[in-house]
Amino acid sequence: MNNPQTHYAVMGNPIAHSKSPLIHTAFAQQTGQAMQYTAILVAEGEFVQAVERFQASGGKGLNITVPFKQAAWALADQRSQSAERAGAVNTLWFDEQGRRIGENTDGIGLVRDIIQNHGGQIEGQRILILGAGGAVRGVLEPLLQATPAQCVIANRTVSKAETLAELFAANVTACPYDALQGQSYDLIINGTSASLQGELPPLPDGLVAEGGWCYDMMYASTATPFVQWGQKQGAVLALDGLGMLVEQAAESFYLWRGVKPDTAPVIQTVREQLVKP
Ligand code: ATR
Repeated sequence: MNNPQTHYAVMGNPIAHSKSPLIHTAFAQQTGQAMQYTAILVAEGEFVQAVERFQASGGKGLNITVPFKQAAWALADQRSQSAERAGAVNTLWFDEQGRRIGENTDGIGLVRDIIQNHGGQIEGQRILILGAGGAVRGVLEPLLQATPAQCVIANRTVSKAETLAELFAANVTACPYDALQGQSYDLIINGTSASLQGELPPLPDGLVAEGGWCYDMMYASTATPFVQWGQKQGAVLALDGLGMLVEQAAESFYLWRGVKPDTAPVIQTVREQLVKP
């Protein structure tokens, strides 16, 4: 390491697929920030030691990905309100006393991609969220702060959706997939991991309201099963989560460096790299 004072990294397992080094290196070049960003593979059960080692070597900040976001939450000495309620931290940095500060930028990334990058609306909209795992819990606080009229969480295991609805209270209700028959929503967000197996939750036709949008928090080199479903169901826009990925990274970068990168060219670069044969 040339200068450990400017070392940032992403920790996860697996990590080889991570786009974070590409994204942050592009942000650093664009904004003229002298920093290095690497990917660190951490063995299960060794997360705390890995963070301690990184911090002791002069590392400045970390992104945390699967499966360590909850462990990062527990390790943080101080958490933002959004990270607190997310129960997960994807961004860590160290203050002058060496205290670990934790934030979760996933929800901000999702909201910015919808509103700023695509001109969408959340305020006053009827929103349906599919899934009730860690990914959904991680984005709920910023999503609700954008004041939708209604927010329904549908999940295969309804009790998990009910737990989230209780945790976040205002305007959030829970239901099983079969209760969606006859309903329609302005924005449907897929936060399940079903796409990873090329699957879709069981969704009735007619779920996308006139003028409605679909958003898949997952992304892939080709349209995800949920994006394809949204297109077939007549969604005005069916987006995948690549923009969210770059936006959550931009917020981490801002928290660390105090500089806001321009995300549009970086989203384009990552998309090009993703679809390259
Ligand atoms: P993550 O961190 O990605 O959120 P998770 O906490 O394991 O991972 O949650 C995965 C989510 O995807 C859950 O809501 C899960 O539904 P259950 O809670 O009922 O397990 C959902 N999920 C995964 N595969 C699915 C499928 N094939 N159909 C519907 N939902 C699925």
